[in-house]
Amino acid sequence: MALRTLDSLGPLAGKRVIVRVDFNVPLKDGVITDDGRVRAALPTIDHLIGQGARVIACSHLGRPDGSPDPKYSLEPVAQRLSELLGKPVAFAGDTVGESAQQVVSSLGDGDVAVIENLRFNAGETSKDETERRAFAEQLAALGDVLVSDGFGVVHRKQASVYELAEILPSAAGFLIEKEVDVLDRLTENPERPYAVVLGGSKVSDKLGVIEHLLPRADKILVGGGMLFTFLAALGHKVGKSLLESDQLETVKGYIATAKERGVELVLPVDAVMASGFAADADHVVAAADALEDTAFGADGMGLDIGPKTAELFAEAIRSSRTVFWNGPMGVFEMPAFAAGTRTVAQALTEVDGLSVVGGGDSAAAVRQLGFSDSSFGHISTGGGASLEFLEGKKLPGLEVLGWA
Ligand code: 3PG
Repeated sequence: MALRTLDSLGPLAGKRVIVRVDFNVPLKDGVITDDGRVRAALPTIDHLIGQGARVIACSHLGRPDGSPDPKYSLEPVAQRLSELLGKPVAFAGDTVGESAQQVVSSLGDGDVAVIENLRFNAGETSKDETERRAFAEQLAALGDVLVSDGFGVVHRKQASVYELAEILPSAAGFLIEKEVDVLDRLTENPERPYAVVLGGSKVSDKLGVIEHLLPRADKILVGGGMLFTFLAALGHKVGKSLLESDQLETVKGYIATAKERGVELVLPVDAVMASGFAADADHVVAAADALEDTAFGADGMGLDIGPKTAELFAEAIRSSRTVFWNGPMGVFEMPAFAAGTRTVAQALTEVDGLSVVGGGDSAAAVRQLGFSDSSFGHISTGGGASLEFLEGKKLPGLEVLGWA
């Protein structure tokens, strides 16, 4: 079944429209370091303003413990939204209390407000359905309809994502529509060859996605910290590199399944070994089967894929028609170990077909390395949400909008 879209809500002029967005942006000393998620919410918010709706944007930020914590205030995000929209955005210092009620009642047609972090209320994330519903009822009192557009949070059964969408007339915003459209193309009939590039630190975070995509992809490329568990599964020594010993048998199973199914599993042929985990650590390139044969011996730590691997991956990516990439290839935050991630990102920009960057870290990596969002087919705003979508899991925040 298809998602209920914005037009299903009818004319919105003069209506109080709650927009559940994902403004969970990275902040450093109160400054937003990547505003991608705020930008991603703009098409829906702009559209609602254009319709003359009274827009009440709400979101979580971080993981406060269910009570107010200034560290997680959405105020800086409201300011950023105002800059991006080029118009004032009112801010309510609470979520459903006096401040929120006052701010909402003073909105005129086409005005925008942001209410404080939903997770300052225990009911938002409560495991108890009755508590979630009670909080959702309070939220519902602020608006006439709900536009759900926080794709990054659709895998969470939380009050503003699920119960609120049951209480108010609700529909998906443009971001959720776009994310679902693109990610669905990755699971249903992707144009071939289809390559999946996985990085990031832990195999255990990617188990579901590897299992689900093994039968669907033509090539699976493995980089990032998790590559060392794959190399160890092949019998190579990996020094002090990240190794999940408890995943070795699972990884051996993946290697065997890939072979059986004729999926090309592209594993690194070299890696950058460093003397330790530091931006200025000594480092050297070593072949995948000789990672301990460097001056650092068994103390060496792999912090990036090597240049031969990067080229191998780039070629496998460029020759594909559909590519999904999740997880950096190395410690991209440190310039000495960013080359692998940069080469992979560059190759994605050259794909003749659909290239999708998924996951908060990969999105932050491409932006930090200076790539523009428009160089890729799509940058997903979902971290866990896009992975769970690709794992084929049922996502409560989509189901409640009619998606099945
Ligand atoms: C994310 O950053 O992936 C989303 O905003 C969801 O956040 P959460 O993992 O804290 O629920």
